[in-house]
Amino acid sequence: MARVITFGTFDVFHVGHVNIFKRAREYGSSLIVGVSSDELNINKKGRAPIYSLKSRMEIIEAIKYVDEVFVEESLELKRQYILDKKADVLVMGNDWEGRFDEFKDICEVRYLPRTPSVSTTEIIEVIRDIR
Ligand code: CTP
Repeated sequence: MARVITFGTFDVFHVGHVNIFKRAREYGSSLIVGVSSDELNINKKGRAPIYSLKSRMEIIEAIKYVDEVFVEESLELKRQYILDKKADVLVMGNDWEGRFDEFKDICEVRYLPRTPSVSTTEIIEVIRDIR
């Protein structure tokens, strides 16, 4: 059965993250998650994650839909990670629509609709505004 891979920061873990794991896992028999390093997140989103890489990995590992986690050190290594992990399917939320089509030569690429009305950025902003 197919091996599914997905990537992300998964900071301040929320239900949108659970949902993408649950739906990704339906495309195969195992789900492998590449978790952005703290440095990669700073480059990608312009801020350090709230939770450390170690905590984010511990949380993700504990999710029943996830079979394996590893650290994603660089966006440029994505092709290599997909090959190394022998992934058959790459799943991402549709905020990334089209961005990973270049990997269609080595795996199936699927973009799933984001869970509405929840994001790490929004949670951080809401907490910041509490007085
Ligand atoms: N995701 C999702 N639904 C959401 C939020 C995230 O399906 N409501 C998916 C993203 O599309 C991505 C993965 O979860 O494939 C990891 O997203 P991440 O960037 O870590 O989470 P966000 O909440 O989008 O974080 P931020 O607000 O910092 O961009």
